[in-house]
Amino acid sequence: MRGTEPVPFLDLARQARELEEPLREAFTRVLVRGNYILGEEVEAFEREFAAFCGAARAVGVASGTDALTLALKALGVGPGKEVILPAFSAPPTAVAVALTGARLVFADVDPATGNIDPGEVEGKICERTTALVVVHLYGRMADMPALLEIAGRHGVPVVEDCAQAHGASLQGRGAGTWGVAGCFSFYPTKNLGALGDAGMVITDDTDLAERIKSLRDYGREERDTLRLVGHNSRLDELQAAFLRVKLRYLPEWNRRRREIASFYRERLEGLPLGLPEFDTHDHSLHLFVVDTSRRDELREHLRRLGIQTVVHYPVPLHLQPPFLDGSQTCPAAEGKALRVLSLPLYPQMRDGEVERTAEAVAGFFQGGEA
Ligand SMILES: Cc1ncc(COP(=O)(O)O)c(C=O)c1O
Repeated sequence: MRGTEPVPFLDLARQARELEEPLREAFTRVLVRGNYILGEEVEAFEREFAAFCGAARAVGVASGTDALTLALKALGVGPGKEVILPAFSAPPTAVAVALTGARLVFADVDPATGNIDPGEVEGKICERTTALVVVHLYGRMADMPALLEIAGRHGVPVVEDCAQAHGASLQGRGAGTWGVAGCFSFYPTKNLGALGDAGMVITDDTDLAERIKSLRDYGREERDTLRLVGHNSRLDELQAAFLRVKLRYLPEWNRRRREIASFYRERLEGLPLGLPEFDTHDHSLHLFVVDTSRRDELREHLRRLGIQTVVHYPVPLHLQPPFLDGSQTCPAAEGKALRVLSLPLYPQMRDGEVERTAEAVAGFFQGGEA
């Protein structure tokens, strides 16, 4: 099939149009109540999101980056300590760790999934290791049983970066409930996105939740006394009210993501390119990322046909300038950075756009015009 309209990588305005009425109602509710920071919308959203994930507690914060930084600080991570993290993720995973003052120790990834390789973690744990950060890259859960076994043997707490994994699970257990804390981003492009910045930490550990609550609010003990030096990283009432509306749609949106991903997979199976695997994993399908040594050519072919793609991520974390100390090599992460390409996939994508994208990718490999 042939279309002429561009296929955007993501069009958030379509979602906003679908939800305009309930979002306006939520806005008005907060506006007339007159309480804009840490009020009843935040508390309700924390309860609802904790229940959705299967966690005891949730603490709303200002962003996914802050969720990670605050969870790590609450676990005692700081200068003189080390944190192990994957070499392949979005830059904020590494920024969040660096903001604690700890040393970043990069572990290489599984070349098939891009998720942290448990064998690599084992080799990097030492007496200074204070936490292991695991990312569920693109929405596919990392190998949590193996990672928890290794970390548990060394007494190292595991923090999950779930910024791409809202609603993902493994063996029936939700993303964010395997480690001591699960950190979510509600950046607008995520599976559950606010109309601005927002984040959340989920945990079953009440003391940890209380420390994070203090850390997000200057380090307060009570209204006028500090227990430590914290951040200003509060989730505001408006974003919480919008997220409460959107949370109701998340299961249906994730189902639609899976439908589109299944269509892509069926159409692209058998071509010389790596495809995401989501049969045995309850993948949130945040991104549909293909893997090919002809990535740049494929991207240019799609661009000429009006189909937008994105590379997640062209620079592995250990090669980002602030972290480049020359001592760490991660060949699998470096390979992924050269080969990965994300195709458009979001719940409001139209069938015709999905078909056009699939035909265009198939046409590239089959030498057709598509
Ligand atoms: C894997 C990962 N970690 C952390 C973040 C940071 O989230 P935020 O942009 O809300 O700070 C993002 C998203 O941007 C992400 O994709």
